[in-house]
Amino acid sequence: MSMHPDSTPRYALFGHPVAHTLSPVIHAAFARDRGISMEYTAIEALPGQFSELLARFADDGGAGANVTLPLKQQAVGLCAHLGDHARRSGAVNTLVRRDGDWHGFNTDGRGLVRDLTDRHGLDLRGRRTLLIGAGGAARGIAPALLDAGIGDLYVVNRTPEHADALADAMGEPGRVHPRYLDDLGKLGEFTLIIQATSAARGAGLPPLPMSLVGNRAAAVDLNYGEVSIPFLAWARASRALQAIDGLGMLVEQAAESFYHWHGVRPDTDPVYATLRGRQATLITAD
Ligand code: ATR
Repeated sequence: MSMHPDSTPRYALFGHPVAHTLSPVIHAAFARDRGISMEYTAIEALPGQFSELLARFADDGGAGANVTLPLKQQAVGLCAHLGDHARRSGAVNTLVRRDGDWHGFNTDGRGLVRDLTDRHGLDLRGRRTLLIGAGGAARGIAPALLDAGIGDLYVVNRTPEHADALADAMGEPGRVHPRYLDDLGKLGEFTLIIQATSAARGAGLPPLPMSLVGNRAAAVDLNYGEVSIPFLAWARASRALQAIDGLGMLVEQAAESFYHWHGVRPDTDPVYATLRGRQATLITAD
């Protein structure tokens, strides 16, 4: 009997929409860089389809996956084991198939921290931090920011209950403070401001007073491309020392996922440079 098994390990990104995702390009570049053979595709999945599509993917030999919005919180329930950041954030962006189970990790936060510290040279320690948003993206990064040694973390969100839930989930009530969006003007100055909402894709950002931006502050939008433009423009107008979009984080979280799957770390700088070159509309101030 001759068998011709397709032994190329399969990886995929699940989410909706994923048509314009950069992840397949990033992982293909990493795989080339490290001489690893892998297939990485994007699979459109609505919340109602995700668990079935993921099960089918596993049956077809899926070895690992990324998960993006709106599925990061749902993915937690599909995992037999969770990494520390996935557990604390209640959001999974990386799945690894081990012994017939999914193991869930969240690499968004570590990816963000690596981008800010290694690529942009920021010292995060002690920074009084404002996190705008409390959805999957915000939850994913909060544990890693706390681990990186930021100072107090203030969380504001359109739906205050979500900010409360995020703060509760961090389990550090003396350090993580939910606040009302309407009270932004009373919160004083911050040295790190992170925009983690999807508001600019829809109705637009909530109004942000310039008084939030402290001396030598860094302002970061987790989005990249057009969606990041309004917040970064506000940050520059408010004299933030750095205005940073989410492109570097995108590359770094992918590298952390790649490491979970293959046990080797890819060189991220060439991929970042290529993608930055393509994002002609984007400028970082640093
Ligand atoms: P993601 O994975 O991108 O975080 P999400 O979980 O749907 O997606 O969360 C989106 C975030 O953007 C939330 O913080 C959301 O606020 P709510 O918790 O009140 O839903 C925020 N958001 C979305 N549209 C917004 C808008 N028009 N104004 C303010 N915040 C908005």
